[in-house]
Amino acid sequence: MDRDPLPPYFGIDPDSAAQALGTPTDTGGFDAIARACAAGRSDLAGRGLQEDGRRSLRLFSTWEITRYLIPVAQAHFRRVLKANPALPQGRSETAGGAKWFTLDEVLRLRAHFGAEGSKAKNYLPYRPAGLPAKVVAVANFKGGVGKTSTAAHLAMSAALDGYRVLVIDLDSQGSMTSIFGGRVEDEWRTVFPMLARHYAAYLRAENQRRADRGETPLPLDDTLTEALKLDAAALIQKTHWPNIDLIGAQLNLYWAEFQVPVWRMQARGWPLWDALSDRLAADGVLEDYDIVVLDTPPALGYLTINGLAAADILLVPLGASFLEFDSTGRFFDMLATTFRSIEEGENLAARALGREELAFQWDAVRTVVTRYDPVQQAEMAALMQSYLGDVLCPHRQGFTALIGQAGEQVQGIYEADYRDFNRETYARGRETFDATYAAFKALLVGAWRRDERAAAAEAAQ
Ligand SMILES: Nc1ncnc2c1ncn2[C@@H]1O[C@H](COP(=O)(O)OP(=O)(O)O)[C@@H](O)[C@H]1O
Ligand SMILES: [Mg+2]
Repeated sequence: MDRDPLPPYFGIDPDSAAQALGTPTDTGGFDAIARACAAGRSDLAGRGLQEDGRRSLRLFSTWEITRYLIPVAQAHFRRVLKANPALPQGRSETAGGAKWFTLDEVLRLRAHFGAEGSKAKNYLPYRPAGLPAKVVAVANFKGGVGKTSTAAHLAMSAALDGYRVLVIDLDSQGSMTSIFGGRVEDEWRTVFPMLARHYAAYLRAENQRRADRGETPLPLDDTLTEALKLDAAALIQKTHWPNIDLIGAQLNLYWAEFQVPVWRMQARGWPLWDALSDRLAADGVLEDYDIVVLDTPPALGYLTINGLAAADILLVPLGASFLEFDSTGRFFDMLATTFRSIEEGENLAARALGREELAFQWDAVRTVVTRYDPVQQAEMAALMQSYLGDVLCPHRQGFTALIGQAGEQVQGIYEADYRDFNRETYARGRETFDATYAAFKALLVGAWRRDERAAAAEAAQ
């Protein structure tokens, strides 16, 4: 019998290795690599785009609509459409074939069923009138744990459910932005101006106080003056989803991590952690949308802190592995330290002045197992469950080939045409993300109802 060949790291010949090495790389080499990547990227991106360079969303069939979106019998659905010729009638690929609808049309049909159909069925998702949108942040300082996938799928499933969704990408890598086909020229189309405007407004008020005390004012530079003119509407872009809008990100957003601490040094009283939540409220975003989804970078920097402080619901994805469990524990440790130090810093002054003390609060904080493999990870997941209890979402988001297979045009399960997949694979993949959404929706609806009761109790007093 032949002996197994030696492992590949034995017998490397130094001369051939030296020859294969090529010339050393200098700074210009990075430029060349970056240019090659950019060219390849635009080639790939171009393949999934319409002629005008925009992404487009697939159509939805009668089967999918009545199965997943508007729960009525197909026959009833057809009868209602026939009886109401003004409603969207769909289009078929072959004479007499299945009817397909755009999501816009699905939303109009749902509004019709909601207004005319059985009151016992909740065609329209629950959203208490007069209460602000809920903000959900998906965060973990570890990369690759499924933050962006979870955030994108939540945004899409909430949109399919009929909610108006705003997605905000806080990660300068911009993955969420590419999923939604966003175009961001520079930091002026990211959340950066919202943070700058919050600081500029603080600085103006502070300068007024300084003037009253006869002190010299702090300078308001061009960036800050410019930011004072921009509101959220100037940053929000439409996506190929009719009810998902986006504030995108690109590399320059990383600049915020350097700029924010400089501002804070200049004006120590600036509550930087409030910047995003204050601006979202001030610009009416919390009235115009039902849900704001924040995707965060794999770091606990100023952007993440702002996102977490703005969040009502915090989801922390992690895989069922020792390393991810361990690092997630340290992430919570860092969260505790960071937010406690902000509270302590503020409350020293608050107590002295008899002001109300700052205490951060979230409607719900949950960890979510992602990319779960029941064959390999059941024991680990059960152990995590026993230690984390209610903090761990009971549903484990399964590993699915549907995500790996998604190309440049199709981003995730909800954008995929079910006819392109094995029925079983599709159903399982969709089921696991539907269940992730259902777990989130229970938190959302519960938190809104709690607020509704509190508002009613307050009004009754
Ligand atoms: N449920 C899943 N099944 C299969 N692959 C997944 C799943 N969730 C995420 N992935 C893959 O894991 C990788 C990391 O996911 P991503 O959402 O980008 O993580 P993060 O935003 O935390 O860095 C991506 O390649 C993504 O396609
Ligand atoms: Mg990500």
